[in-house]
Amino acid sequence: MIHSLFFQNPVLKGSIKVPGDKSISHRSIMFGALAHGKTTVTGFLKGDDCLSTIKCFRSMGVQIDEKDDEIVIHGVGFQGLEEPKDVLDVGNSGTTTRLLLGILAGLPFHSVVIGDDSIATRPMRRVTDPLKQMGANIDGRENGQYTPISIRGGKLSPIEFVMPLASAQLKSAIIFAGLQAEGATTIIEPEKTRDHTERMIKHFGGSIKREHNRLTIEGGQQFKGQTVQVPGDISSAAFFLAAGAAVKGSELMLTDVGVNPTRDGMIDVLIKMGADLTIHTEEEKAEPVANLLIKSSQLKAIDIGGSIIPKLIDEIPIIALLATQANGTTTIRNAEELKVKETNRIDAVVQELKKLGADIEATEDGMKIHGPAPLHGGRVSSRGDHRIGMMLAVASLLTGEEVQIENFEAISVSYPDFLSHLETITNNQ
Ligand code: S3P
Repeated sequence: MIHSLFFQNPVLKGSIKVPGDKSISHRSIMFGALAHGKTTVTGFLKGDDCLSTIKCFRSMGVQIDEKDDEIVIHGVGFQGLEEPKDVLDVGNSGTTTRLLLGILAGLPFHSVVIGDDSIATRPMRRVTDPLKQMGANIDGRENGQYTPISIRGGKLSPIEFVMPLASAQLKSAIIFAGLQAEGATTIIEPEKTRDHTERMIKHFGGSIKREHNRLTIEGGQQFKGQTVQVPGDISSAAFFLAAGAAVKGSELMLTDVGVNPTRDGMIDVLIKMGADLTIHTEEEKAEPVANLLIKSSQLKAIDIGGSIIPKLIDEIPIIALLATQANGTTTIRNAEELKVKETNRIDAVVQELKKLGADIEATEDGMKIHGPAPLHGGRVSSRGDHRIGMMLAVASLLTGEEVQIENFEAISVSYPDFLSHLETITNNQ
């Protein structure tokens, strides 16, 4: 589907409640299924990716009721999951794929994990190799690197695993396997990555120890059903934070946004770039939440790299767009993981933004953006990647001309209501 956007002198005003956090929504279904008893989830993201997770767990015999404003999971525990009669289809979701493999690794049945064309290109050996080392039988294209992946789980032994890269999906997969191993599994992260899995273990009555970047998890823990409140997704809010900061005369309030310190790199970047951002923190819950008020201002270029990267990895496409409007050259380094996301995001950001007039170049592990550059209309593509699609829609606000976006429907992976939210806060003048 080609979607055409045309905003002349837009000003963004008003308030938005962005949809639930994608990472937390996935985990709420997984922990709900692995716990005993009923789990009720509010604020769940009904985007394609999280719906894929629901479908996979239903295929393993878990009853999950979808109501208007809540999801109810009738948990069965690890032992209660059943051999699926058909393949487990993860759609476009890397999180479902990798975390599910960690769960399946300890289950004494056969299953096959498949996904869409994008999933079929995403590296899985980072997960399948350590799971094999723990005792799971796994095979897949190129020795377990790509889907379809078939797995027969079984008795797992704990390992001490030094993660070769900073990835919360990898960490979580090994945590799920560790929960089923006999004894204590140790995981060492090179950089701290999002800790929603660890927080959820505690929320469901389990325990996991952290000393600096070293995590220890005991196998054989039992979880009890809970109520989970999913906060708004900071990765979705990021599109409106960027739009509010860059579109002149704008003033936007984003309510109930999750501001977990392992996810808040976008806030640091906005502040360093000179954005006018006010943070109203709410009372601390299982996950910290805040209201964010953004007003437009002149932005300046910054350098982004090192340990902040995992805290803003999904926000780099929209940060790159923001940098096109900042004074000076912004450099993004240590972000090679972007090459193996839903699409090669270094290539996609650079090529698609160039079509709209950006002065941007790819580097080995990131990009360089020279600003400020006036953007113009044109025809671009999401390349089937939700975050590229939404970034290009925000770019259209800065062009004053028509922007046609191919494969715009990809945005339903994480933000099905994105367009209606954008239209609500945009006054064409
Ligand atoms: C996620 C972790 C990140 C992120 C992805 C969601 C998660 O991936 O990019 O969108 O829910 O754990 P990596 O762990 O592969 O970096």
